[in-house]
Formats: sequence, C-alpha cells, structure tokens
Amino acid sequence: MADLRVLLAVAVFALAAGASCSFSFEFEEATIDSIQAGFKNGSLTSTALVHYYLDKITRLNPLLHAVIEVNPDALRQAARADAERSTGHRRGALHGVPVLIKDLIATRDRLNTTAGSLALLGSVLRHAGAVVLGKANLPEWANFRSARSTGGLHGWSARGGQSRDPYVLSANLCGSSTGSSIAAAANMAAATLGTETMDSILCPASLNSVVGIKPTVGLTSRSGVIPFSSRQDTIGPICRTVADAVHVLEAIVGYDALDAAATKSASKYIPKGGYKQFLRIDGLSGKRIGIPNGFFDFANGTVRRIVYTQHVSTMRQHGATVIENLKIENLNGILNITRGGLLTALTAEFKFNLNNYLSNLSYSPVRSLSEIIAFNNAHPTEEKLKEFGQQVLLLSENTTGIGPEEKAIIRQLEELSENGIVKLMTEHHLDAILTPDSDATPLIAYIGLPGIVVPAGYDEQGVPFSISYSGLKGYEPRLIEMAYAFEQATKVRKPPTFKT
Ligand SMILES: *[C@@H]1O[C@H](CO)[C@@H](O)[C@H](O)[C@H]1NC(C)=O
Ligand SMILES: *[C@@H]1O[C@H](CO)[C@@H](O)[C@H](O)[C@H]1NC(C)=O
Ligand SMILES: *[C@@H]1O[C@H](CO)[C@@H](O)[C@H](O)[C@H]1NC(C)=O
Ligand SMILES: *[C@@H]1O[C@H](CO)[C@@H](O)[C@H](O)[C@H]1NC(C)=O
Ligand SMILES: *[C@@H]1O[C@H](CO)[C@@H](O)[C@H](O)[C@H]1NC(C)=O
Ligand SMILES: *[C@@H]1O[C@H](CO)[C@@H](O)[C@H](O)[C@H]1NC(C)=O
Repeated sequence: MADLRVLLAVAVFALAAGASCSFSFEFEEATIDSIQAGFKNGSLTSTALVHYYLDKITRLNPLLHAVIEVNPDALRQAARADAERSTGHRRGALHGVPVLIKDLIATRDRLNTTAGSLALLGSVLRHAGAVVLGKANLPEWANFRSARSTGGLHGWSARGGQSRDPYVLSANLCGSSTGSSIAAAANMAAATLGTETMDSILCPASLNSVVGIKPTVGLTSRSGVIPFSSRQDTIGPICRTVADAVHVLEAIVGYDALDAAATKSASKYIPKGGYKQFLRIDGLSGKRIGIPNGFFDFANGTVRRIVYTQHVSTMRQHGATVIENLKIENLNGILNITRGGLLTALTAEFKFNLNNYLSNLSYSPVRSLSEIIAFNNAHPTEEKLKEFGQQVLLLSENTTGIGPEEKAIIRQLEELSENGIVKLMTEHHLDAILTPDSDATPLIAYIGLPGIVVPAGYDEQGVPFSISYSGLKGYEPRLIEMAYAFEQATKVRKPPTFKT
C-alpha cells in the first residue's frame, strides 16, 4: 500500500519534471509572505511550488511517513490557480498555496479521508472542501494522547505507517497531528492543518519545532472533520512560523452553517481587520504573563532549565511583566480527572459524534463504530490488532449516550477549569499563562480555550522543545502578539537534520 502510494507520487512528479528548475525563488523554508511576493514579482508559480513539495514528499516520506496520500489533482489545481492569478483573479490570501491537511479533515475531491484506517477507504463526504496537496498521516483513531492502544505507540496508522521525527529519528512522537507537524517541519508543504481534542496540535508541534495554534473551540468549523468530542474538537494551523500560522488561521475562522451553534457563538471573538495586524514585533510589551507552579521543574544545569530561564528574561526585556510561582489551587484535581472520569465522557462523545459523521457520508464502507470494530476484527494483520488492540473503540462502543453520569463529569471538568486557569487569569489580570511544551493542555482542553506553541530550543539530544502561551476564550489576538514577538526576539527554529 505505502509503496504504491510513493510510486504514485513519483509518477506524478516525473510526468511534470523539468518545469521547476529555473526560478530564483528560494523554496526551502519559504514562508507564505515570500510565496505571495514570489507570485507577485513573477519569480514563482503555484505549479513550481507544488512540484517542489511533491518532490520533497517523494524523497522524505519513505523515511518520515508524514504523508498518507498526495492529491492526484494538486498540479491541476495549481495550474488553475496560476491561470486565475494571471487574469488578476484572487480567491483569497492562500490562493495557490499548497497546504497539507490531516487525514481527519474531509475534502470533496479524489483524496480519501480515513483517520489513517483502512476501514474508511473510499468514504465520500457530501460537502465541498479546499485546494490541497494531500493528507497527513496520524496515529489511527487517536485523538487521545494514549492512541487507540493501551500501549500508545504514537504516529502509526494502517494506511500511513509509522511516522518519525525529522530532528531525531528515534525520538518519541506524540499524536495525533503528527504527520502535519512533521511535514511542516521538513518543508513538505507550505502550511499544514491539524486538529485537536486534547493535545493533538500542541504536542506534536512542540516535538517538531513548529508553531501550532489551537484555536478557541468554535472559531474554526468542525463540519466534515472526523470527530472525537464536539465539546473539545478544534481545527488549527501547524506551520514553520507564527506569521504563516496566522495567515492560515485567518483563512479558516468563521461562521459555518454546518457547525452553526459553535461557530456562531465563537464568531464574536474574530477581530475586525483579521489576525495579521497582531503580528507585532513589540507584542510582548505591556503584557502580563503568569507562570503557574509546577510546570518548569527542570533540573538545574539542564539545557531546558537554562534556555527557559533565558526566555523569561527575554520576555521581560521586551516589556512583559512575568509573574512566577502562581498557584493553581485545584491543579491536582485537574490532573487527576485526566486519568479518571474524562475517559468516560470522551468515549461516550466519540461514539455519538462518530456515528453521526459516518451516517452523514454520502458513501462509506462502514456506517458505525461497531462496523469499524468488526472491520478491525476481520483485518487483524493490517490493523495490527495484536500490537495495539482497539481498547478505546471498545470502551466507546459500550457507552450509551451522554447520560447523567457523563453530564456530571462534563460539569465537573468545566468547574475545575473555571476554578483553575480562568480564576487564576482573572484574579491576576493575565494576558496568558506560560508553560513548557504543551503542558497546559489539561488546563485549557475541557472548556475550549486557545493556546499557541512556539519553538523554544533543542535538548541535549537535539530533540526540540517549545514554550506555550495559553489564554481565555477569544484571546488569540494577544497570544499571537506574544508568540510573534517572542519568535522574532529568539529565532530558535532551525530546519531538521534527520539525526539518527
Ligand atoms: C521575488 O520575490 C521573492 C520573494 O520575496 C524573492 O526571493 C525573489 O528574489 C524576487 N525576485 C525578483 C526577480 O524580484
Ligand atoms: C483512495 O483510496 C483508494 C482505495 O484504496 C485508492 O485507489 C486511491 O488511489 C486513493 N486516493 C488517493 C488520492 O490516493
Ligand atoms: C448530518 O449533517 C446535517 C447537517 O450538518 C445535520 O443536521 C444532521 O444532524 C447530521 N446527521 C445525520 C444523521 O444526518
Ligand atoms: C536549583 O538550584 C537552586 C539553588 O541555586 C536550588 O534552590 C533549587 O532547589 C535547585 N532546583 C532544582 C530543581 O534542583
Ligand atoms: C483522584 O481521583 C480519585 C477518584 O476521583 C480519588 O479517589 C483520588 O483520591 C484522587 N487522587 C488525588 C491524588 O487527588
Ligand atoms: C463492554 O460491556 C460488556 C458487557 O457489559 C463487557 O463484558 C465488556 O467487558 C465491556 N467492554 C469493555 C471494553 O469495557
């Protein structure tokens, strides 16, 4: 399967090779701003760009397994974008920019949308989608950090194989927007999209030295996205720079009649004039940033300790007030529920939302969670049933809807969050809380709060780590200001080196 797909990509590339050589445009590490400038001054076409990324995918994917499928129509779509641009027609800020999207996000084209699983091959969505380079791999059915398995081997799917970190090939991965993060890091696309229920954008972006934005739930529509929990699911960009991520965010926010309640309620957070105005070099100035206790406990003398300490001074030098040693009163309760009742709520939501998604497809080989379980049982080798099991799917199938028990747990999650991060930020008038990597996830996941991770350094082994700004609902503008100013002041990210 995987070999066939690589061959397909090679064939697509070979057909059109030769067209992509004679441009002065710098492809490696290209940003969306530079791509737009290249389109404007004639040094770049979408076609050349798509050739470049398809070539990158052909060469790197056998090693990284970041891409599950390339779009056989990508070059055709690029040619159309070039033709449209030459007549002065521009569909939007990302017109002609090749984007790779996670294989949970359905598109109405020849691409499959399968959550990495063979069970969903051939399913077809009813509604229209975007211009895409292809689909990114993900650990199958794994919007939990623990994957669908109890063992939790992250980044594996039956269709896409085992993903790997482009910085340190043997490093641990986390899910589930793994392929998107790896592809962004290794320049396999101009930009990528991920989805998050709990840590799925923030964690893999952290480990791959890229910028991930987890938007306030409802800011981006979840219609046509294989769901986990409509209470927590959100779609966001994963890119090499804050500016790129903001370009993509701006293109994907907004009201959608097919996810009406959530997108209507969050649309009040979309600022007039969009998000790009918050890419401010002085974005740290005047900000109040809180550091809760217990999040930066790295041993003295370690790279992380030294680097994070420097970063906090940098933020202060750029005009931020950083308040350390803040206490989140109920932190233990929040971390404890992650291991306890949360699974009860999420598994019930998963079954309900997934069955709704599957029954709404215009065609699908499987129509329910129980049929997926049966499919896995019938294909134990391909689905690696012995290695990974399907515990989360089985637990989920056993649930019977959002009853009193689930409602009580959801209420408890909301209360814990309100008495945790919300109370802390309100009492101290904070613009953000600062944590390492994606460690803020249990604080922000349950009530749909936003967060941004930005590359912060590389540890003793060369494994990337990051810093994150998290805030209250609709705080994207100020999180972007801080993240951008921090990125510009530190310029930490370097391209991956594929260390073995
Ligand atoms: C066009 O713009 C791109 C991106 O800014 C730049 O790299 C390139 O050198 C420019 N080429 C010309 C001919 O101006
Ligand atoms: C979608 O899956 C089908 C069935 O395996 C396959 O034939 C087709 O090539 C896939 N589409 C793409 C774009 O890879
Ligand atoms: C299908 O999608 C429509 C539109 O989003 C929605 O109203 C409906 O509840 C969904 N479910 C089913 C089973 O049709
Ligand atoms: C680091 O060193 C300081 C003294 O310089 C000490 O007070 C602190 O406990 C040490 N922290 C850790 C995590 O070892
Ligand atoms: C975690 O939660 C369980 C059940 O809700 C409780 O029995 C236990 O004492 C809690 N543990 C801590 C460390 O708070
Ligand atoms: C599902 O429920 C059945 C019947 O109550 C039980 O035997 C089985 O162990 C449960 N499965 C899981 C994974 O909880």
